[in-house]
Amino acid sequence: MDTVAASMDWDPSTYERDVRTALASAATSDEVESVSVSFLGRKSPLKQALRNVRDRESGMQLNALREAVEAVVAEKRGEVDAAELERRLATEKVDVTLPAGLLGPVRARPRGTLHPSTQVRRDVEDIFLGLGYEIVDGREVETTRYNFDALGFPPWHPSRSPRATLYLGEQTVLRTETSPAQIHKMESTRPPIYMISIGRVYRRDTIDATHFPIFHQFEGLVIDKGITMADLKGTLLYVMRRLYGDEREVRFRTHYFPFTEPSMEPDVSCPICDGAGCPTCKHSGWIEMGGSGMVDPYLYEFVGWDPGEYTGFAFGMGIERTAQLRHGIPGIRPFWEDDLRFLRQF
Ligand code: DAH
Repeated sequence: MDTVAASMDWDPSTYERDVRTALASAATSDEVESVSVSFLGRKSPLKQALRNVRDRESGMQLNALREAVEAVVAEKRGEVDAAELERRLATEKVDVTLPAGLLGPVRARPRGTLHPSTQVRRDVEDIFLGLGYEIVDGREVETTRYNFDALGFPPWHPSRSPRATLYLGEQTVLRTETSPAQIHKMESTRPPIYMISIGRVYRRDTIDATHFPIFHQFEGLVIDKGITMADLKGTLLYVMRRLYGDEREVRFRTHYFPFTEPSMEPDVSCPICDGAGCPTCKHSGWIEMGGSGMVDPYLYEFVGWDPGEYTGFAFGMGIERTAQLRHGIPGIRPFWEDDLRFLRQF
């Protein structure tokens, strides 16, 4: 086009009309651009004439012509751009409801998996929701009143030491167990109570294969009229079988916790060796699952209830420990290392 225009007869009186004629057949912005180059570009007859201007009169006329031609081209450019946009809007429809993988060149986003701790947490929630329990939130930052006093920890109890517990202030701690959730629940309502509470707990432990300063527990509390140890045992047997398979058995060993009386540690028959004895169960056939017991009447008194009116049971267990047993994971550290090679296996 450039050369076409350059070779055109230079006639200022028809120039604007010639531009319009050339533009009439231009349908794309590229075509408009080449018309513009022909008639307004550096080598165009108009620009060359402007360069050779010697008198003011013809200079003014040529500049007026240039402005007129520029306006014509700009107008056409606007029309063509609008038409192109119109065309694109009509043809390039994107169905935003399609899954990403179906959008041709757009690749599906890789989907992650739930962390093994999260999987166990959800399973535990499902199991207890199925039993009609309610799930309540606890607090990761607690006062010594809820973390220790309310739960019957004597002033000299070693757990209260700053060597064992992370203190944020004189009477503020990162909770060492989920058990304080029991007290918050008891203070906010009256029996019947059937609840679990799941979350992080903190202890000032040195990291090794089986210890980590943060881990998760699930805590259960049941208080009602006429609750007995048989209810505790039946409940834990049901839950253990849901978690580890229908073959599992549960046994209790006596123990001591400040907030239950009597206190027991439940064992589940080893899901790895089926009770025959293996390294996981230290060849005993049984695995320790956590703590449990009948709610100590001291707790009823603490929240201002008549200790003779209700009975109840409570239990607390580790989420990571549960995941370890279910998947045969030897230590707790991988749960906190964010190593995808570990996490992708579950
Ligand atoms: N809080 C105890 C711990 O972290 C576990 C526990 C024991 C919870 C007995 C309970 C219970 O609710 O009744 O070691």
